[in-house]
Amino acid sequence: MFYNKSNDHMCGIVGYVGKNECTDILIDSLSKLEYRGYDSAGIAVFDSGEIKVAKSKGRLADLVEKMKTEGKIKGHAGIGHTRWATHGEPSDINSHPHSGKRVTIVHNGIIENYKQIKDFLISQNREFLSETDTEVVAQLLDYYYEGDPLDAIIKVMREIRGSFALGIVFADFADTVYAVRRESPLIVGVGENESFIASDVPAILKYTKNYYLLEHDEISVLNKDGVKFYNLHKKEIKLELKTADWDMDAAEKNGFEHFMLKEIHEQPTAIRTTITPRIVDGLPNLEECGITPEALKKFNRIHIVACGTAMHAGTVGKYIIEKLARVPVIVDIASEFRYRDPLLDENDLVIIISQSGETADSLAALRLSKEIGAKTLAIVNAKGSSIAREADMLIYTHAGPEIAVASTKAYMVQIAVMYLLAFELAYAVGKIDIDECRRLTSLLSSTPDIIENILEHKEHTQYIASSLITADSLLYIGRGLDYALSMEGSLKLKEISYIHSESYAAGELKHGTISLISDGMPVIAVATQKSLFEKTVSNIKEVKARGAKVIMVCRDSYDPEKDIADYKFGLPDIDDIIMPMIAVVPLQLIAYYTSVLRGNDVDKPRNLAKSVTVE
Ligand code: M6R
Repeated sequence: MFYNKSNDHMCGIVGYVGKNECTDILIDSLSKLEYRGYDSAGIAVFDSGEIKVAKSKGRLADLVEKMKTEGKIKGHAGIGHTRWATHGEPSDINSHPHSGKRVTIVHNGIIENYKQIKDFLISQNREFLSETDTEVVAQLLDYYYEGDPLDAIIKVMREIRGSFALGIVFADFADTVYAVRRESPLIVGVGENESFIASDVPAILKYTKNYYLLEHDEISVLNKDGVKFYNLHKKEIKLELKTADWDMDAAEKNGFEHFMLKEIHEQPTAIRTTITPRIVDGLPNLEECGITPEALKKFNRIHIVACGTAMHAGTVGKYIIEKLARVPVIVDIASEFRYRDPLLDENDLVIIISQSGETADSLAALRLSKEIGAKTLAIVNAKGSSIAREADMLIYTHAGPEIAVASTKAYMVQIAVMYLLAFELAYAVGKIDIDECRRLTSLLSSTPDIIENILEHKEHTQYIASSLITADSLLYIGRGLDYALSMEGSLKLKEISYIHSESYAAGELKHGTISLISDGMPVIAVATQKSLFEKTVSNIKEVKARGAKVIMVCRDSYDPEKDIADYKFGLPDIDDIIMPMIAVVPLQLIAYYTSVLRGNDVDKPRNLAKSVTVE
């Protein structure tokens, strides 16, 4: 049978050892990681000294239901998993944990050479139940295990290739959890008489804020005596204890129906927290991030490389940097950039934007850029992530944990940082003077209040969304910065509402796409740019004349006639350049309410995962 090599890639893993009964803790921690995958879930717990496994296809809730009928497993140490399958059907059998005779594991990542290892193990009369590469690791651990878990783990680590994180339990070592990582993220949390492993901080925040960040090829051993770390030479090593600056509220819904809505509401705070420390005397100041105006102005060209929403933030960045600083900016999709032999040299700055800091293509683009000799700057939200650690320069966005798969507040702070960079660069190269730089910076600082005001009128976006729910397809159009924004509006809508949508440069419609317009087809026209307004209105009239139902996102001061727009979302009058910061909010809300009204799972849209750690 054909085996899909990339069977389990993203996924979330957790583990617990300690004073408390752990099944509920494992389930609760997994619930904070469901954004990493949610097509199956499982746990393995030392129950009366024996490893017992419960796993199920479907959501975590299905696993909990299953345990109600099959009987809950109980103990004080265990591991857990929530899975996102990229290939192959999610099934009970392919769900984690997977076991060899004396070893059970959970796994996040890819084992690239699983096939050779599997063939070898089959030649040694080992039998496999599932189609996963994970089971190959479990069996290999079992094959090498001769009484010392560390020896077996080290041998396996020397043999397997790929990027992965593993949580491991050995039947002979009750109430002990082992963990190891290469590339894929893994933290080790420590509380009072208890310790944890997790793929991400929100999973442990309810229990502790203190954690260690496991580095590549480091092994951790958790038992009743605490936590120890080893390298692949079996030498004990010391790691630095970190404290999460996110509190638990950040990982809870706090009365909002969905994380996405909560995160949309958190945007004003996220902007303030991100930009305030980087503004000194009314001017952008990125020195705390190791970025000086002198260093910035040396670059001949800027490349912005990212995926999805982060790439859209980069596109806004391109428009504003080119407009204000007159420095050429090329925006690339990371998965294209890495394979197109990009033209780069030491005079180029490559900016990688990523919420998670773990996106495989963005990380590969970063490594490639460094290899070629360009300077790299990462704009990242997740502290200590791979992209954050490997870039030459780093600006953290302070959005806090973003749980909803659809990115909102992370995008917002990514563009806020783009503005700071654009202002600083424009001033450094002498394209704007100090007064203009101050004026622009203060405009940026005013956006959180404006957004708070827009959020107070969000019911209007709900009304607009109700006109979209039966659509099969829709278009977003705009020019200039409005076009850059349309891309994000369109992605947001399609990823959570499952309605097909495309964003198009308004002036390009008549070169083909306008033939798609038929009676009643919704067109969301983003028309915030004063300088392009009349041009966009002409394009709106073109689609309206062909039967489109037009929803206009424009300045409130504009009062469209019925022959132009059916619905309008009005925005306050501010400078063209800063408009994307506020105009994205109604686009996010329209996507959100459309998804809610269609009865979709807003925070966990089908086929997606938050952190895309495979290419
Ligand atoms: O973690 P990253 O910012 O690198 O993720 C990039 C994309 O996968 C991400 O922005 C994705 O497009 C979002 N789900 C969109 O809402």
